[in-house]
Amino acid sequence: MRVLFNDLKRQYVATADTIHDTLTRVASSGWYIMGPEHDAFEREFADYCGLPFAIAVANGTDALELALRCVGCGCEDEVVTAPNAGGYTSTAAILVGATPVYADVDSKTLTLSPDSVAAALSERTKAVVVTHLFGQMGDVDGIRRVIGNRPISVIEDCAQAHGAMANGRRAGALGDLGTFSFYPTKNLGALGDGGAVVCAREDLAEHLRALRQYGWQGRYKSIVPYGRNSRMDEIQAAVLRARLPVLDRWNEERRAIVDCYRAAAENSPLRIVHRPSRSYVGHLCVALHEERDRLREDLARRGIDTAVHYPYLDPHQPAMKTIQWRKVDLTVSEYAVERIVSLPCFPGMSDAEIKYVCETIAACA
Ligand SMILES: Cc1ncc(COP(=O)(O)O)c(C=O)c1O
Repeated sequence: MRVLFNDLKRQYVATADTIHDTLTRVASSGWYIMGPEHDAFEREFADYCGLPFAIAVANGTDALELALRCVGCGCEDEVVTAPNAGGYTSTAAILVGATPVYADVDSKTLTLSPDSVAAALSERTKAVVVTHLFGQMGDVDGIRRVIGNRPISVIEDCAQAHGAMANGRRAGALGDLGTFSFYPTKNLGALGDGGAVVCAREDLAEHLRALRQYGWQGRYKSIVPYGRNSRMDEIQAAVLRARLPVLDRWNEERRAIVDCYRAAAENSPLRIVHRPSRSYVGHLCVALHEERDRLREDLARRGIDTAVHYPYLDPHQPAMKTIQWRKVDLTVSEYAVERIVSLPCFPGMSDAEIKYVCETIAACA
């Protein structure tokens, strides 16, 4: 049997009728950017997150960059974040002229460790970006505690955690701002690029609306610097509206797949990182194994695709060579990067595929 790492066609097929209606409606409407679908999606997504404001943008990296700008991050400032989250926050921090500073991750969850954040903070820290990595909520409240009353903003990167909950609040509702990507592989994915920033404060929402469109307040009047074009188009907004009502069901499906893998791996050296809880939405099923590369080869020989999220820590990337970052102990991140492996986990996986992956990891791990 062949098991793909992901198969986006299955999500398309599950919502094909609605998507076709949606595409026809938008194409025949004559309004293609920031129209009624866009405005409705902003309202519906804000509601879903339990917040008053969602500002749609062009992608998740723009969402991070505009969020950092919105909280006043620029040259001379530092942005504390995890080193194992794929480089998106580093990219955004560098784009606003700030310096990324890396704090280590918790050994159980592989998300940002509040204790390590405490060691990474400085007089120059303007923001901490907490990535809800793999679909798992990071410890936003713990990080707020170590920040105390210092003037440091907390931004949640929710690109992998649409719908995850912690203490009754959705991802995005715990920090000052929450950023999302709707890249097609995300739990809520478009048919192209898309992103959003969510927040509770009207002044931040106003600032973000200006930043995403040339700094404008209304047409042609520019009120803030560093504005640019980061708009979401009508087709993506309409597709996201069509898929939002099935997001919770898809998240359940993802969690159920991970539960099966966890049970299958129970008596093996493979450790599934995630615990069963609503604070995890199964964006990725990540496990640790001492012989990760050997295991991946064995699974590949048996037709099962795997991946590594992510194979490099941000500070070790060649592109980061010239960035002067303050060194913080990254022992856990350095240990995990050699051992992590992501297993297939996507809505629409068949029972036979799940069973085959379970049997194979039990046999090979
Ligand atoms: C954690 C995280 N943050 C940010 C992004 C950036 O999103 P985008 O690809 O839409 O720019 C991604 C995804 O690709 C991501 O996984």
